[in-house]
Amino acid sequence: MCGIVGYIGKKSAYPILIKGLKRLEYRGYDSAGVALISEQQQLNVYKAKGKVSELEDFVENKDISGNIGIAHTRWATHGEPCSANAHPHYSSSETLALIHNGIIENYAVLKEKLQAKGYEFKSSTDTEVLVQLIEYIKVTNNLDLLSAVQLALNEVIGAYAIAVLEKDHPDEIIAARKSSPLVVGIGEDEFFLASDATPIVEYTDKVVYLEDGEIAVIHRGKDLKVVNLNNVESTPEVKQVVMNIGQLEKGGYPHFMLKEIMEQPDCIYDCMRGRINVDANNVVLSAVIDYKEKLLNAKRFVIVACGTSWHAGLIGKHLIESFCRIPVEVEYASEFRYRDPVIDETDVVIAISQSGETADTLAAVELAKSRGAFIYGICNSVGSSIPRATHTGSYIHVGPEIGVASTKAFTGQVTVFTMLALTLAKEKKTISEDEYLKIVKELSHIPEKMKEVLKLNDGIAELSKIFTYAHNFIYLGRGYSYPVALEGALKLKEISYIHAEGYPAAEMKHGPIALIDAEMPVVVIATQNGLYEKVLSNIQEIKARKGKVIAIVTEGDEIISKIADICIEVPASMECLDPLIATVPLQLLSYHVAVCKGMDVDQPRNLAKSVTVE
Ligand code: AGP
Repeated sequence: MCGIVGYIGKKSAYPILIKGLKRLEYRGYDSAGVALISEQQQLNVYKAKGKVSELEDFVENKDISGNIGIAHTRWATHGEPCSANAHPHYSSSETLALIHNGIIENYAVLKEKLQAKGYEFKSSTDTEVLVQLIEYIKVTNNLDLLSAVQLALNEVIGAYAIAVLEKDHPDEIIAARKSSPLVVGIGEDEFFLASDATPIVEYTDKVVYLEDGEIAVIHRGKDLKVVNLNNVESTPEVKQVVMNIGQLEKGGYPHFMLKEIMEQPDCIYDCMRGRINVDANNVVLSAVIDYKEKLLNAKRFVIVACGTSWHAGLIGKHLIESFCRIPVEVEYASEFRYRDPVIDETDVVIAISQSGETADTLAAVELAKSRGAFIYGICNSVGSSIPRATHTGSYIHVGPEIGVASTKAFTGQVTVFTMLALTLAKEKKTISEDEYLKIVKELSHIPEKMKEVLKLNDGIAELSKIFTYAHNFIYLGRGYSYPVALEGALKLKEISYIHAEGYPAAEMKHGPIALIDAEMPVVVIATQNGLYEKVLSNIQEIKARKGKVIAIVTEGDEIISKIADICIEVPASMECLDPLIATVPLQLLSYHVAVCKGMDVDQPRNLAKSVTVE
């Protein structure tokens, strides 16, 4: 998820663009850049790694004149964060400059085609391929920029929100969107362009939200023109923005955490994009194909992580052992790094980290690598320290996670683990073709099922009010749902400050059941799968001691709904995919309990988003 800003009007563009980028830094911040057509009609592109402030330092004493420009703050998906990969990207003639938010899935094919025609590339991004393609089509067919953009986008598969400048046309910006948001602000003799209205609202409240497949022709002194890829014009619907800037940064939600819970369907779709094929009958992780022998011949996998990522690792263990019959150990990175572990070149170590900067996990990776292990990363922040320390890996592509309590990163990690286990199992032939196809198909439906669960938000908000009194919670689950119980407990304790513990449901009778009384809420993940009957009897044991049971059940369950105090019904899925469904109501429960208690949900006390110290 990147941030795009554009301006054309009578004012100096640069200050407006930089301020707009700062408003959008929550969308991504590993590099930033700006393209300006100067008063001398030069097309100047300036880019820098790091936050927008780095870009400001970089342009000191440079020509930042001009009243037309585009700017971009990046969240890397293809290509490490560096100035070469930062946007805007020049075309080879340096007469075009383009910025892009999204993923071009067929960029490799398009790049090969252009290289065969002599085009050279300065970056490893999918975005540079697009600007080169536009130039190639423009020059080859002697077209204007709009026509070249229309033809180029017809060849693109994927998601995009783009803006393009042409050096010889300092009065026009061409912008287009498909699956990534783009908003045009309409001012007095000036236009604004942005990924959302946040950078625009201080100048105008009149906006046009572009629809998928639409192209905006933004021309100084003319009305906004909107056409589609076939050049059919439509009348833009001008709307009035009513939200304030703070609300806009959170997508209209009161907290980043709720925004990130709610955007999980889209994020999981992005995580699977280009990895599960359109017919959902095949899944491929490129890292597995590149290092197939190493991974398939591993004596065992050792997963190292912390916190929520460690919970994802427990699910990864279950998936890999179940599908691939490879032994897997899951280690707290902080313990692993100090106990002189038995690790050698026959081991594959999987490091999981949303931030890619967790000190304990990075140290565990370095230790394992020093002993010859092969390191596979599952991270979110492209180009961060942990991915750079690994031999290979798979990014989860869920976009920046701002809320300290991890939500979409967890489901993204579990999704990548599921695809990893499926890809390996297919290579090892340890899973039947039928079972493989059934799981891949069901996995492709998970985003839709998550959307169904998210409709429970208001109901969960209501029931959360009941439990703000509680000082202790217990979370129970079995099998794939045991790590979900741990994750639900961690979510609650870290943002509501209520003590919560997760246990394997069967462990209750080995001590914790002594805690049960009428004051103790017990959350039980009791979806209809392999161990349902066992969980049912665990619930009966709790009810016999007057415990308050909140059960996550499969919709239509008529047994537990007669026993539990509260039932939250979720769509049926396969047991191995249950964590992706059952986690969501627990995220919502923890969020709403914390909100009811008036807690600082996005920045809970004592915590940091990335624990870069021991
Ligand atoms: C989870 O909600 C917490 N924020 C924390 O446990 C987190 O998962 C842990 O610090 C690991 O962070 P990482 O995934 O960035 O390495």
